Amino acid sequence: MTKKPEIKPADGKLGILLPGLGAVGTTLVAGTCMVRKGLGRPYGSLTQMGTIRLGKRTENRVPLIKDFVPLTPLQDIVFGGWDIFKDTAYESALNAAVLRQEHIDSVRDELRALKPMKAVFDKNYVKNLDGPNVKHGKTKMDLAEQLMQDMAEFKQKNGLDRVVVLWTASTEVYQPVSKVHLDMDLFEKGLRENAPEISPSMIYAYAALKSHIPFAMGAPNVSVDIPALLQLARENKVPVSGKDFKTGQTLMKTILAPGFKARLLGINGWFSTNILGNRDGEVLDDPGSFRTKEVSKLGVLDTILQPDKYPELYKNLHHVVRINYYPPRGDNKEGWDNIDIFGWLGYPMQIKINFLCRDSILAAPVALDLALFMDLAQRSGMSGIQEWLSFYYKSPMVREGLYPENDLFIQLTKLKNTLRYLKGETLITHLGVEYYDYFE
Ligand SMILES: NC(=O)c1ccc[n+]([C@@H]2O[C@H](COP(=O)([O-])OP(=O)(O)OC[C@H]3O[C@@H](n4cnc5c(N)ncnc54)[C@H](O)[C@@H]3O)[C@@H](O)[C@H]2O)c1
Repeated sequence: MTKKPEIKPADGKLGILLPGLGAVGTTLVAGTCMVRKGLGRPYGSLTQMGTIRLGKRTENRVPLIKDFVPLTPLQDIVFGGWDIFKDTAYESALNAAVLRQEHIDSVRDELRALKPMKAVFDKNYVKNLDGPNVKHGKTKMDLAEQLMQDMAEFKQKNGLDRVVVLWTASTEVYQPVSKVHLDMDLFEKGLRENAPEISPSMIYAYAALKSHIPFAMGAPNVSVDIPALLQLARENKVPVSGKDFKTGQTLMKTILAPGFKARLLGINGWFSTNILGNRDGEVLDDPGSFRTKEVSKLGVLDTILQPDKYPELYKNLHHVVRINYYPPRGDNKEGWDNIDIFGWLGYPMQIKINFLCRDSILAAPVALDLALFMDLAQRSGMSGIQEWLSFYYKSPMVREGLYPENDLFIQLTKLKNTLRYLKGETLITHLGVEYYDYFE
């Protein structure tokens, strides 16, 4: 018997702390402030615009998600964050040039008030960046303690009831799980002894979880998913989720691949290339950071297509992903996909996609939803990995021994059924035999 979840109300204010106030971070903050003032609409956000069907199709019960589960209203959100540059969110938003100047200016006061705290940074983990606004400490444990103090002060100064931390900082160099990551004793020893395998993002995650604050990882970094931090999340009963916001090309892949698979269309090759000119593109120009991204991007097709179950259709699929740094494009990424498919009797066909997307415009609503749902998870007593939030991630975290669900439509069903479950509503299986008299 599982016990019925009890959801605490979303009373008081929620702090959203962002390590990384770059393109995604500032587009999230500026957009939320604009929506709050009625100056823009939160397109792309399930928490703000999505509905959920309850009961049978004949019942006509389809409330907004935000009216169905208690989520923090946008008016009650306070943003804070860290960055290696001293620019306020206003300057950083201008610099990122995702939003038009008039939009940024419409919330200038709010953005100017957001001054980044000093970051925990290590150039070995982000080779193409360096900045002056960084913390110093003898050991990585000292740095973690400074972050914990930042979090406590932010909460106290702003009169907050709850806080979540959402990583919107750069992609770090690929760091495979090693001995120091295996349990909390080894990890804390590593923090005290400055183990090189402990990355800045792991230090942020540790500081959050120690402070009983949920942590979500928006980059593909190996970080909150290491065994030591998962152990800490369970022990301190804190939700964690990740990794890598699912936007752009991977979003398209997880929309299209389930369709090909559903119709048993074979795929010989899927070639994806991108040109991207923002700072994220510059960071990903380093092979170490690109490797972390590549692992995250390549993983999605396998779990959707299941080549082991469908060897004739998908075993020989050549999946290639490239990202090229091309400054003229700024945040407006251009992604090309060439998909070589085959159908009846093996006849080949090709599909070409040219997605002129705006990366941070796609990422901001994902980041907002994640912050609000992570807070809901915390108030509902759901700790550890939040697999129901895989909808938002390229490399969803799952319990050991499970494969992740990457199909966007399975992910959405999982998310909505989790909300129904939390509220004691019947889960929707789409079986629908009750509408017909087949078995009477
Ligand atoms: N935009 C998208 O669609 C998308 C999708 C998936 C993942 N992401 C990931 O989200 C992250 C942010 O993307 P972005 O486009 O905003 O990049 P960005 O380069 O514009 O912003 C990242 C910011 O993080 C700061 N930073 C780097 N290391 C830091 C540290 N240790 N502590 C604090 N700040 C630090 C940088 O100075 C920069 O201001 C990247 O890791 C990116 O890969 C973005």
